[in-house]
Parts: sequence; C-alpha cells; structure tokens
Amino acid sequence: MISKMAILYLFLNIFTVYLIRAQDYDGDKNPQAAPPPESIDCNGIFVTYTFISRTKEYPYLKNVTAQPWAFKSTATILNAGLSVLQNWKIFVGFQNQEILVSASNAVVVDGDELPAFVGNGTTLSGYPLTDLKSSVETAGDLTQIQAEIELSGTQFGIRPPGYPMPRTIKLVNDGYKCPKPKRSATRMSMCCVKDPKSKVANLTTKYFPRQNGDLTMSYDVLQAYDNNYLAQVTINNNNPLGRLDHWNLTWEWMRGEFISSMRGAYTRKKDITECIYGAAAVYYKDLDFSKVMTCEKRPIISDLPPDREKDKEIGNLPYCCRNGSLLPTVMNETKSVSIFQLQVNKLPPDLNRTALYPPERWKIEGVLNPQYKCGPIKRVDETEFPDLSGLQATTLAVASWQVVCNITRPKKGQSRCCVSFSAYYNDSVVPCNTCACGCENNSKKCNADAQILLPPEAILLPFANRLDKAVAWAQIKHRRVPTPLPCPDGCGVSVNWHVASNYRKGWSARVTLFNWKEVEFVDWFVAVQLNKTGSGFERAYSFNGTLIEDLNDTIFLTGLPGLNYLIGEANGANLTGIRECLVVFNGEECALPMQIRRRMLAAVLFKYDNTTAYITYRGTPATEAPIEKDTIPARGKHDISTEVVVDVDNLVSILIMRRIMRRVV
Ligand SMILES: *[C@@H]1O[C@H](CO)[C@@H](O)[C@H](O)[C@H]1NC(C)=O
Ligand SMILES: *[C@@H]1O[C@H](CO)[C@@H](O)[C@H](O)[C@H]1NC(C)=O
Ligand SMILES: *[C@@H]1O[C@H](CO)[C@@H](O)[C@H](O)[C@H]1NC(C)=O
Ligand SMILES: *[C@@H]1O[C@H](CO)[C@@H](O)[C@H](O)[C@H]1NC(C)=O
Ligand SMILES: *[C@@H]1O[C@H](CO)[C@@H](O)[C@H](O)[C@H]1NC(C)=O
Ligand SMILES: *[C@@H]1O[C@H](CO)[C@@H](O)[C@H](O)[C@H]1NC(C)=O
Ligand SMILES: *[C@@H]1O[C@H](CO)[C@@H](O)[C@H](O)[C@H]1NC(C)=O
Ligand SMILES: *[C@@H]1O[C@H](CO)[C@@H](O)[C@H](O)[C@H]1NC(C)=O
Ligand SMILES: *[C@@H]1O[C@H](CO)[C@@H](O)[C@H](O)[C@H]1NC(C)=O
Ligand SMILES: *[C@@H]1O[C@H](CO)[C@@H](O)[C@H](O)[C@H]1NC(C)=O
Ligand SMILES: *[C@@H]1O[C@H](CO)[C@@H](O)[C@H](O)[C@H]1NC(C)=O
Ligand SMILES: *[C@@H]1O[C@H](CO)[C@@H](O)[C@H](O)[C@H]1NC(C)=O
Repeated sequence: MISKMAILYLFLNIFTVYLIRAQDYDGDKNPQAAPPPESIDCNGIFVTYTFISRTKEYPYLKNVTAQPWAFKSTATILNAGLSVLQNWKIFVGFQNQEILVSASNAVVVDGDELPAFVGNGTTLSGYPLTDLKSSVETAGDLTQIQAEIELSGTQFGIRPPGYPMPRTIKLVNDGYKCPKPKRSATRMSMCCVKDPKSKVANLTTKYFPRQNGDLTMSYDVLQAYDNNYLAQVTINNNNPLGRLDHWNLTWEWMRGEFISSMRGAYTRKKDITECIYGAAAVYYKDLDFSKVMTCEKRPIISDLPPDREKDKEIGNLPYCCRNGSLLPTVMNETKSVSIFQLQVNKLPPDLNRTALYPPERWKIEGVLNPQYKCGPIKRVDETEFPDLSGLQATTLAVASWQVVCNITRPKKGQSRCCVSFSAYYNDSVVPCNTCACGCENNSKKCNADAQILLPPEAILLPFANRLDKAVAWAQIKHRRVPTPLPCPDGCGVSVNWHVASNYRKGWSARVTLFNWKEVEFVDWFVAVQLNKTGSGFERAYSFNGTLIEDLNDTIFLTGLPGLNYLIGEANGANLTGIRECLVVFNGEECALPMQIRRRMLAAVLFKYDNTTAYITYRGTPATEAPIEKDTIPARGKHDISTEVVVDVDNLVSILIMRRIMRRVV
C-alpha cells in the first residue's frame, strides 16, 4: 500500500512539473527559449525554418520579378536525441536569388563573407556553439541543446501573399537521414534521425580530424594568460604546384581582440584608433597603446624580409622571414612552411585562460599566384611540438585550430597569366586572348571581343606599344583592322608557345616567360606537364630538372643556384633578342588563345611514336624526355618531339602543357 501511494505521488509530481514548465513557456515573452512544439515526437535532430517577415526594399520597381525585398527568418536545430551532435551543419535550399546579409550563431560553410549570394542554397554551421549537447547531459538546458539562427537578407521577386520559402532544409551531418520536410505556408520542419546503415568513421580525435588541402594553416595557442595569449600561425604549402609570393594573410577578430606584438611577420597598418576609441581603452587603462601592433578588426599580415631573420625582437623564428615566399615541397621542404607568432590581448568577458576564440574568415593571397579559397577555421586536437629542451618529449599546444585552403581554377577573365601562340611556318603571332585577365571598364574605348594578329617582334613589347605595329602588320598582310582596336589582355605574365620546327623525328617548341610586373620572383619554378611525356626523363643541363612521376609525370624545373632570380621588367631586363615565349604562372593556369588558327595548328598535329621532348635553355639543350606512343590527330603524319626554351631572365613559373596540348588537339 505504501509503495502504491509512493508511485501515485511520483506521477502526480511529474505531472505538476510538466504543467508548470508548459505554462512557463507559454507565458514567456522570448519564444526563442522554447522548443518547437512539434519536436515532442522527435527523438533525433529537429530542424525548422520559419519565415518571419518581409519588407519592400529600394529601389521600388514596376518589374515584379526584379523587385528586391528584405526578409527575416529563423532556423532552429534542436538535439532531441541521446547523443551529442558534433559540428552541426544544415543546408538551406534558398531559391529566390537570396543574398544573405546576416546569420546569428552560424557561419556560411564555404567561407564566403556576408553578404553572400546564396540563391543556389547554402550550408550553415554553428558558431560559436558548434556542438549541440544532448538533454541528458545538460538536464534539458535549451541553450546547449538548441541552436537558433536568425537570418536576414534580400530576396527577389516573390511578392505578398506568396512567401519566399527555401526549396528544402536538411541536416547534412554524416550519419543522419532526413525525411521530406513538413510544410506550411511560412514554416518547414523535419526530424532527422540517426541512419543505422551509415558507417560513420569513429572519430579518434577529441575535436575535428585534421584535413588535407592545398594549403593548411594552423593557429596554435602556446601560452595562455587571463587577458592575453601567445599564438603561433603555421602555414604549410602541400600542393606540389602551389606557390605563394609576397603573401598577405587577413582574418577577422570576432571578440574585440587586438595584436599587441608580432614575431616573424608584421601587419601592414599600425592602427590603434579602434582601441583608443573602443572597449580596449576602457579595460586596458594603463596600457601604452603606441607600442601596440595594431587594433584593426581585419589586419593585413605579411612576412618579414630576409634581413630581419636574425632580429632578436621581431624575427628569430624558424621558417620566418622570406618576404612571403612559400614554395612547393619538391623545391625545398624548409621553404614550404611559414611561421609567425603573435601576442593577442583579449577583452571582457573573455578574461579567463580558457576563453580562447581564434580569428575567423581567413584569406591568403600572393602576387601572381594561384587563388586560394579557405574554409572556416575548425578546432582540432592540440598540435604537438618537439620539446625545446632537446629531450625526447613533446609539448602540446594549449589549443589548436586549423584552416584548410584549396586552389580555385580561375574563371574566365580572372586569370593572371595567358598564352600566346606562334609557329615557324607563319610569321604572325596569335596574341593572348583579349581581356584574358579581365578588362577594366574602359571597354568602351577598346574592343573586348576583337583580336588582332601581331608581327613576331611585337610580343616583346608591352601592350601599349604593340598596337601601332599590329595595325601596320595588318595592312601589310591585307587583314581587316577591327575598330575600335582590341583591348589589352591585362595579364601580369604572358607565355608564348612557339612551334619552332617540325622534323620527321618530331617537332620542337620554344617557350618564353614574360614578366610584365614590377616584382621580382625568387626561386621560380617551371613545371612541364605533357600528356604521357615525362616518363623517361633523364637529365637536365642548365636547369635542375626532376621528373615527378606521382604528379602525372610532371617535369619540374628550377634555376640552378645563381640563376634562380627572375627580374621584373622594371629592373631593366632587356627583352630584345628573345624571339618567342610561353608561360603559365606559379600554379596559376594561364588563359589560352581562344582561336588558335586552324592553319597554324594543322601542321603541328600529327601522329608520333617514341619521340623526345627537348627542353633547352637559351638554345642549349637542357633536357630531353622521350614521348611515349600516343596519337594526336592532325593533317600530316609526322613524328614529333618537343622543345621548350625557357628564358629565365624574363619570368616565372608553371607550364602545364598538357592543357595546351589538349586544346591544340
Ligand atoms: C524583369 O526583371 C527580370 C530579372 O531582373 C528580367 O529577367 C526581366 O527581363 C524583366 N522584365 C521586364 C519586362 O523588364
Ligand atoms: C547557381 O546555379 C545556376 C544554375 O545551376 C548556375 O548557373 C549559377 O552559376 C549558380 N550560381 C552560383 C553562385 O553558384
Ligand atoms: C566508436 O567508439 C566507441 C568508443 O571507443 C565504441 O563504443 C563504439 O562502438 C564505436 N563505434 C563504431 C561504429 O565503431
Ligand atoms: C635538384 O632538385 C632536386 C629536387 O627538386 C633536389 O633534390 C636536388 O638536390 C637539386 N639538385 C641541385 C644540383 O640543385
Ligand atoms: C632549402 O632552403 C634552406 C634555407 O634557405 C637551405 O639551407 C637548404 O639548403 C635548401 N635545401 C635545398 C634542398 O635546396
Ligand atoms: C572560462 O571560460 C570558459 C569558456 O568561456 C568557460 O567554459 C569556463 O567555465 C570559464 N572558467 C572560469 C573559471 O570562469
Ligand atoms: C598586400 O597588402 C599590401 C598593403 O595593403 C598591398 O600593397 C599589397 O599589394 C598586397 N599584396 C598582395 C599580394 O595582395
Ligand atoms: C580541399 O580539398 C580537399 C581534398 O583535396 C578536401 O578534402 C577538402 O574538403 C577541401 N577543402 C575545402 C575548404 O574546400
Ligand atoms: C592523353 O591524351 C589522350 C588523347 O588525347 C587522352 O585520351 C588521354 O586521356 C590523355 N591522358 C591524360 C592523362 O590526360
Ligand atoms: C593526373 O591526371 C589525371 C587525369 O587527367 C587527373 O585525374 C589527376 O588528378 C592528375 N593527378 C595530379 C596529381 O595532377
Ligand atoms: C638590349 O639588347 C640588345 C642586344 O642584346 C641591344 O642591342 C640593346 O641595346 C639592348 N637594349 C637595352 C635597353 O639595353
Ligand atoms: C618505342 O620504344 C620502345 C622501348 O623503348 C621500343 O620497344 C619500341 O620498339 C619503340 N617503338 C618504335 C616505333 O620505335
């Protein structure tokens, strides 16, 4: 009897608690703290998207489909399951040309800065709360088990009474499956559950596993104090054809931090106004801000020049001070890493040793280099460093984060180098594509679509001095001169590919690299990638040539000591005397001529057997490489060989002939 009483009492008690809770939430003015009502039936991850409001934006247009509207909506992710949801990610399938302007508690996964075009849908992940704990371990604390994202942005077209809803929403974490969302006019929701069939790799790491990419950067906190910490940034170039010169690294501080000092790098601006007029001056009352490195929210950080390498105050770090050169590991492993350290001062409320927030939105770029796109910064397991005492021990960082960046292929008009084409049997040169590297808005004065053939000597001249010669050439050759005259290619680097000869045994081509920029390139390299050509590569003469078989038989050429400076145009390099050239630049694929004349090509294309690629330096054979049997369809039936002349006085970098060959074919 007693026990029955006890059970009854217990039930009543639970019931009462439930009622009180429910009432609390019903009366709560802040609905964000309440779980979505439909979530009661969900024992997985409950995801919702709710449209809130929309107002017409300027300009007011008659054309309904072009009218912009400002919209507000919310998305929630509630962990109603038993286990932690690590690094939650949701996909929102926007479909009305949305431009996302703000998203609280979340970041856009592909690292785009807001405002960002998300009209094809976008993936959001949590920030600063990346994980959603389970109710079990937090006693149902909604702030820890639910993330609520307030979205605002601009949308086009749909006018009331229609609602601009996304096509779909879903949780994209591995190991979960989501049903079709339940919809009403302004709301979508779904309950994603663990997929018993999915085999999620069992994470052996505490945080995210480290990832590979073309360029990885880690942010390691080495020493932490209540209101400041020492961090070390390590940049690793992992792509054999990736490269950076004069890199600039930027990021954004999210919690008002500022950099008080730096070692191994410097910020381009020393701007302390944001501190003096901001919260920093209130907290750091006695700090001499004139000694602070910079208070910018988005500083631009650059490598120190080599003469500061041994500087006790700002240098004296391994892997520092190379003027921002990051080379591929095949060239020099030591030079594929850059390191710098910074002392960061924090502001309230982050005044405790463990309140560490790394900067976000990392971006790195170099001069005439591949373009890198970086993902979001992610917490990873603490980096291990060899112990400084020389004992066989390792020191762990206090906390570590990683940023992974990949090379992106240049879009049309966004290349930074281009290729022109010529051949011994035709005295005209097909120049680089007009606007290959983009045209400024002067395209009214020049013709962005036209091209004009050049006399051979004209490719040695900067664009401005070419046109007169080109016009005279067209008149001699009785060709039409386009009006207005073509625009420049706009490229800092150009490459001329010249078919120099065509023997029974093969053909040869000469390649020259032109540096139209006013920057010098140190430790340049040329990588030659021919379709199935490299194998058999034996030696190089004036160059140091290495065959990298793992990399589709790429022949990797660098200058020998003393020869490996490429001098910018401004430094007085004499271009006269160079007859032909071809260049692709520092990992950056160069724009190829769009319409290589059929007649020019016809003679180049043929079948070839075991033939040889010659690479010569200023006429001296530099290397040769047999070409394996392959077929390039063409008019004639000749054997071919390839000769590449790379003029080191003039520029730089990477040659990917495979693409050229493919184009030619
Ligand atoms: C209205 O705007 C859309 C999108 O900007 C455009 O495609 C369409 O041609 C415009 N219609 C009219 C009638 O101007
Ligand atoms: C969006 O998708 C359309 C059609 O697939 C594509 O043409 C457009 O380039 C995409 N836009 C972006 C920014 O990815
Ligand atoms: C993952 O690891 C945990 C603990 O190490 C173990 O209990 C669990 O069964 C593992 N899961 C799988 C799918 O291997
Ligand atoms: C040539 O380059 C390879 C790798 O790129 C390197 O191992 C070798 O030491 C270099 N040789 C000379 C003479 O520089
Ligand atoms: C790599 O660079 C370092 C530093 O300049 C130099 O000491 C070393 O000899 C270089 N290694 C090679 C293989 O060239
Ligand atoms: C320090 O900050 C961290 C992160 O904000 C927090 O988890 C921790 O409880 C704080 N510790 C103290 C002693 O305030
Ligand atoms: C790096 O930043 C400085 C200062 O803003 C600028 O002058 C320079 O051109 C930048 N370099 C690159 C590679 O963007
Ligand atoms: C970069 O590429 C690697 C594979 O090459 C991929 O695993 C990684 O997700 C990519 N990272 C980003 C940010 O695109
Ligand atoms: C080489 O060229 C041939 C014919 O053009 C093509 O079928 C093959 O896929 C190419 N191989 C590579 C590795 O590009
Ligand atoms: C080698 O060529 C193949 C086919 O063109 C390509 O899929 C692969 O990514 C290339 N590998 C490297 C390391 O460039
Ligand atoms: C460039 O070199 C050529 C021949 O090598 C010479 O005739 C000419 O004077 C030189 N021009 C300059 C500006 O040095
Ligand atoms: C090509 O080279 C291979 C091996 O070097 C040889 O066996 C073959 O006979 C050669 N083919 C021709 C057509 O010369």
